[in-house]
Amino acid sequence: MVVALELNKHSKYTMLTRYLHAGIALGAVYQLATSLILLPPDEKGSALGHSMMEAHELGGLVVAAIIIAHFIWSLLLRKECSSSIWVLSSLGQWRSAFFLIPNFLYAFIGKLKLPEPGNSLAKIVEMLGLLVMLFMAVTGIAIWVNLPENNLADIPKEVEFLMYIHSLASKFLWAYIIGHTCMVVAHIRAGDAVIKRISPFHNEVNTDK
Ligand code: HEM
Ligand code: HEM
Repeated sequence: MVVALELNKHSKYTMLTRYLHAGIALGAVYQLATSLILLPPDEKGSALGHSMMEAHELGGLVVAAIIIAHFIWSLLLRKECSSSIWVLSSLGQWRSAFFLIPNFLYAFIGKLKLPEPGNSLAKIVEMLGLLVMLFMAVTGIAIWVNLPENNLADIPKEVEFLMYIHSLASKFLWAYIIGHTCMVVAHIRAGDAVIKRISPFHNEVNTDK
């Protein structure tokens, strides 16, 4: 564990952050993929749809544990660290994120270089993404706890509401995942070693790019 918590010599992401991120990234893709096929518990339909609902529930509980662990870990981290949730409470970070927005727009039309990975805008958006995942996990657990074991045809109003906000928040998750993945691809095309910075399977980052 001591080794896992040690900061990598060339990067600001600790090994623990990298493993937790890998869990969240794989978990988000799995949850989104199963959600495309699942049938809500109160709907009649194919056996595949119901099996996917169960796979989504079981997988969701594992993913929820990883997200809660990442959230607690990002609460414990120092303010200056990129993986800390506290960036959201820093006015300075919001200000510099705001001023970076035009740079991003110019970078997309090829007029400017892409801002360095780990900039204020990226930190803020990534932490908002983490909060969306946390919200999905908490509402998912609440659905699981309150879902009646029998008589799924008659779901209580409060569970219906939880399912509604779980489904609403999933639109933000799709937007986040698509945006985050596009940024990763843009950084890779610009020659930034972003995958090496976050992958738990790379211990060294080529600082020369
Ligand atoms: C909902 C799912 C995801 C969330 C909430 C998320 C969140 C984050 C966060 C918070 C960071 C900063 C490091 C940390 O504190 O963990 C980060 C960095 C990163 N993520 Fe994700 N991520 C998700 C999915 C993905 C996926 C699917 C990929 C692969 C395309 C990916 C690739 C990366 C990369 C390459 C970085 C490093 C950026 C840098 O160098 O600063 N992430 N992500
Ligand atoms: C932990 C991360 C989770 C993620 C990222 C996630 C994601 C999603 C997504 C994207 C949908 C589809 C919404 C739609 O298209 O309308 C969905 C639906 C659903 N999820 Fe999750 N989920 C998670 C955890 C859970 C857990 C633990 C449960 C436990 C019961 C659960 C129960 C459901 C149910 C019942 C639906 C159907 C809601 C409806 O369509 O009315 N989810 N989830």
